[in-house]
Amino acid sequence: MKTDFLPHHPLVDRFGRAVTYLRVSITDRCDFRCVYCMAEDMTFLPRQQILSLEEIRFICQAFVELGVGKIRITGGEPLVRKGVLDLLQQIGQLGGLRELVMTSNGSRLAQMADELHAAGVKRINVSLDTLDPVKFKALTRIGDLEQVLRGINAAREAGFERIKINAVILKDRNHLEVCDLVQFAVERGLDISFIEEMPLGAVDNHDRSEAHYPSHRIKQDLASRFRLEAVHDKTGGPSDYFRIQGSDSRVGFISPHSANFCSSCNRVRLTAEGRLLLCLGNEHSVDLKAVVRQRPGDIDFLKQAIISAIDIKPEKHEFNIHERPVILRHMNATGG
Ligand code: GTP
Ligand code: 5AD
Ligand code: SF4
Repeated sequence: MKTDFLPHHPLVDRFGRAVTYLRVSITDRCDFRCVYCMAEDMTFLPRQQILSLEEIRFICQAFVELGVGKIRITGGEPLVRKGVLDLLQQIGQLGGLRELVMTSNGSRLAQMADELHAAGVKRINVSLDTLDPVKFKALTRIGDLEQVLRGINAAREAGFERIKINAVILKDRNHLEVCDLVQFAVERGLDISFIEEMPLGAVDNHDRSEAHYPSHRIKQDLASRFRLEAVHDKTGGPSDYFRIQGSDSRVGFISPHSANFCSSCNRVRLTAEGRLLLCLGNEHSVDLKAVVRQRPGDIDFLKQAIISAIDIKPEKHEFNIHERPVILRHMNATGG
């Protein structure tokens, strides 16, 4: 995997990695409660604690001026935040931004796909772990499979460049469906990534160590129906991609446990409450909300805080699925 080694880039960390990708969680709220992401009974941040839309836009502007070319909007579920379309439009207009993309659970895409596309979102990733409505309800606790499938169709019709399905695979919950999920993607010209579950926050529904289903097992399972050809396409994300022979679809594997990709990490995250997290699997962070509120509108002050923050980006994540989670924040606080 190739990193962005750009020695003159303003955001190069201690390990020579250039930060060119910002993931922005615009809300920790979600209309689903996926079992690997949240506990059943979640408390969300009070509204006054989260960044305003203008603060988010301003922070994105600072990052783009510092050489970030790709911004991914995440949640929780980003489409539950009021004003999201205006925000996207404004971020999409930042000069120097190459790619504005989004990750969604698909629940509101049926209504919003056209507007999202019009607002300038180029690509979209949609979570879909199973094609069985009963299992879908069990994994999301609330979600309705039909609604998400309608959303994926709406996104296809809206004309996004590529749509990618994200499937978190848990042993004995959905691991028998990997071939059917790939077939679903192939028939619709979509890409798909299989994701190993990461231990963020305590979950009360399963044992993460027992549910671990490594990417190499998925590759073996897929070999019964598909031929995978290694490709070197990179999206700037962590997926290791293969092409499904005879189709336009790619299948990616996001394998934080079985094939660590930290050496090529090019990204940082902004949480909904304005923390700049330097690594998904560590707590190193800087409070950018405090910085923007200390000197409102002073972009140079903010840029300097961001440049300094990159110095504390850790070398790698410290995930261990066999121990109680060390990181207490749930995935919805960071958007993945
Ligand atoms: P592309 O830009 O299409 O490659 O998207 P992506 O796969 O990077 O983003 P998406 O939001 O779809 O995330 C898919 C999965 O990758 C989620 O489970 C994320 O948590 C995980 N992921 C993204 N970046 C990192 C990372 O730096 N470290 C780890 N461990 N997981 C990551
Ligand atoms: N481990 C791995 N992936 C997760 N996601 C949510 N929680 C976890 C977890 N604990 C995925 C979602 C979504 C993406 C942003 O992160 O399925 O597709
Ligand atoms: Fe919501 Fe996404 Fe977490 Fe599922 S994974 S509960 S859809 S934030």
